[in-house]
Amino acid sequence: MNICVIGAGYVGLTTAAVLAELGHEVNCIDQDKHKIEMLNNGEVPIYEPGLKELIYKNYNYLTFAESLDGYIKRASVVIICVGTPSWEDGSTNLCYINSVIDDLSSRINSYKTIITKSTVPPGTNEWIYTKLLEKGVPPHLFNVVSNPEFLREGSAIHDMFHADKIVIGLRPDDQQSLSVVQEMYSGISSPYIVTSLNGAEMIKYASNAFLATKISFINEIARICEAFHVDVSDVAKGLGLDPRIGPQFLQAGLGYGGSCFPKDIKSLEQTALSKNIQPHILRAVQTVNDTQIDIYIRKLRLTLDDLPNRKIAVLGIAFKPNTDDTRYSPAERFIRELSESGCIIHAYDPKAKLDDHHRPNVIQKTTVNEAIHEADCVFIATDWEEFKQLNWSEVKQLMKGTIIFDARNCLNREKVEQCGLHYIGVGRG
Ligand code: UDX
Repeated sequence: MNICVIGAGYVGLTTAAVLAELGHEVNCIDQDKHKIEMLNNGEVPIYEPGLKELIYKNYNYLTFAESLDGYIKRASVVIICVGTPSWEDGSTNLCYINSVIDDLSSRINSYKTIITKSTVPPGTNEWIYTKLLEKGVPPHLFNVVSNPEFLREGSAIHDMFHADKIVIGLRPDDQQSLSVVQEMYSGISSPYIVTSLNGAEMIKYASNAFLATKISFINEIARICEAFHVDVSDVAKGLGLDPRIGPQFLQAGLGYGGSCFPKDIKSLEQTALSKNIQPHILRAVQTVNDTQIDIYIRKLRLTLDDLPNRKIAVLGIAFKPNTDDTRYSPAERFIRELSESGCIIHAYDPKAKLDDHHRPNVIQKTTVNEAIHEADCVFIATDWEEFKQLNWSEVKQLMKGTIIFDARNCLNREKVEQCGLHYIGVGRG
């Protein structure tokens, strides 16, 4: 098949590379000239394990360009993967989707299956369909499909090849798009969930909202555990063995971040409000998440006297391991808020970079040892494997103080304590 992927962000690039690997000819379009230049020069603008290798393995079947011109005519499938940022009130800003529709409408000259992968509020794909008609695209030349993605950063390629489901939303009278999508994904053996356009859009939001709810739930339970000297990891283990609950997304910590959860929960909240539905649970989920960092800062103040004159090594800047993404990163927010106390912060992350507008008391170090050197406290803000594997005797020698604050509950407590260090976790008594 000849496929045009619009948007060379994390979803677009992963989708383009996987579809090329499945044997399709893929043209990936992005208006960002710099990004396209990088891709054409053998560089990948984001860090995602395996992505660079997959792109260059399939380089003969992949093209990167700034404009749809010359590519759209040949394509039978168009996949929209552009960003859907938020307005100030949290609702979704569809400006990029809008401009893609404008670009497409003047160029459709043969039948296209237009697939939306961007996360869009319920009703958006219906609106895309109507808008294309209003722009004069004849109904026999296109159909619109909603096919949300469920990729996790850090394991996006694996997640796409081994998807737990492929969700397809179709218009009621659309007879042919399902077979187009099935042909496009042949090679991936995942169950299909076929529903309406609005249904597919809702599945995506409900999934992210439910996962975020699990995280805020365990973070609230951790607060209660702390008060009763109970280890929340034991509670999570006990909960997770119940098949109705499941063990995943019960890791207490600094809270959720990233490009999806914070934005999507707010968008769903606004969607509910637009229909006069009070989103009680969605609000509570966000309140817990928004207050999680304050708890850690308070805890640090209680543990270390004279915080303004201390040096804290913060390990982790990315919103989660195996990515360089810092969008809505709880680690980065923690660094920003902690820096207000005046203490010296030595931050380190294997891939992510601190944003430029940080204060002079925040310095990013290039190795973990440099960050730890003479620190009063080591604070684990992102659960990178590198931090779990640290040699704690060496850490103790490098540090000035003895406090290891494991804000992701990812370390082996005994191993840390055996080296004479003082371990503090999340909701672990
Ligand atoms: C998420 C969804 O998982 C994915 O299906 C969707 O397509 C995009 O959004 P992603 O943002 O890559 O993926 O990250 P994810 O692994 O889901 O983690 C999100 C956040 O929750 C991270 O900040 C992570 O550290 C945090 N988290 C996750 C916890 O705090 N505890 C957990 O138990 C799990």
